[in-house]
Amino acid sequence: MPLPKNEYLSDSWKDGIFANKVVFCTGGAGTICSAQVRALVHLGANACIIGRNVEKTERVAQDIATARPGAKVIGIGSVDVRKLDALQQAVERCVKELGAIDFVIAGAAGNFLASIEQLSANAFKSVMDIDVIGSYNTLKATLPYLRESGDKHKMDNKTMQPSPIGTGGRIIFVSATIHYRGMPFQTHVSVAKAGIDALSHSVALEYGPRGITSNIIAPGPIAQTEVSSEFSFKGSANRNSKGFERLLPSDALEAYIKGQPLGRLGHVRDIADATVYLFSDTGSYVTGQTLVVDGANWRMSAGG
Ligand code: HXC
Repeated sequence: MPLPKNEYLSDSWKDGIFANKVVFCTGGAGTICSAQVRALVHLGANACIIGRNVEKTERVAQDIATARPGAKVIGIGSVDVRKLDALQQAVERCVKELGAIDFVIAGAAGNFLASIEQLSANAFKSVMDIDVIGSYNTLKATLPYLRESGDKHKMDNKTMQPSPIGTGGRIIFVSATIHYRGMPFQTHVSVAKAGIDALSHSVALEYGPRGITSNIIAPGPIAQTEVSSEFSFKGSANRNSKGFERLLPSDALEAYIKGQPLGRLGHVRDIADATVYLFSDTGSYVTGQTLVVDGANWRMSAGG
């Protein structure tokens, strides 16, 4: 006999599933994170995005707010995730203006292609500081509010039913796949992302009992990101925006895409969909995991 609908399928995928939820996102003005936040806002959340550039962060916040009539989206620029006190001030402003923090996306990252010989000790440290220390600082600053949200929204242990007011107390760390086997010219990022993964796993174990889930989204090659623009550069001097020599031939992109298992790059929507899943009721029993959204890119590379 088939099970009644509410026992095999969460009633999640509809407008308003994130009503009364607040998302706090670092790196929120970037290509991937802004798409993640936009999807959550579209489905009912309010949001606070954090960035280093004031003008860009405020402009992206205003743009995200158009995803849903009545949405509140704050953009707080000039916040460097390497500075805990600056993040804590941003968190306080978010809670004051939006009332809570239920979901966190730790997305701020630094990246460039460089050989180990090109990479100064300070360049290596800069990426470690932005990625690992920045993710830790994001967690540290938001944890009191994630705990409050987790306490409010925990599943009822007896009935195993989700709270009628939905899910809460969730964090997603945006990582990568390059550290699974190592990556030339990405040593700094590989080391940093491995650290982020370890951070997320530990949070899942330590704060699961407080109703908090912690997961990693590992995007593969996503079109329109700054990293993919390193591949797609055509027609000018072989240097990036900071004047460092590009390490890949300018016509490499087409061949690279053709060689992918799905024959395409990822779209930011692929990452946004994964985010909605992990923050929804549907994802409420998923924690301590990595959701790789890469069209099997890294498996193909591992076998090649
Ligand atoms: C070699 C470089 C470099 C390059 C910077 N440096 N760019 N070295 N090749 N292309 C060196 C500088 O010379 C300096 O070292 C040190 O790095 C710090 O650089 P600054 O610009 O002074 O500092 P900072 O503002 O901290 O810059 C951080 C940054 C920068 C990471 C270096 O690129 C940045 O701000 N990036 C943020 C935007 C970004 O990268 N987004 C992409 C995220 S996507 P010296 O020795 O000269 O002092 C992503 C996905 C990862 O991360 C997925 C992987 C596949």
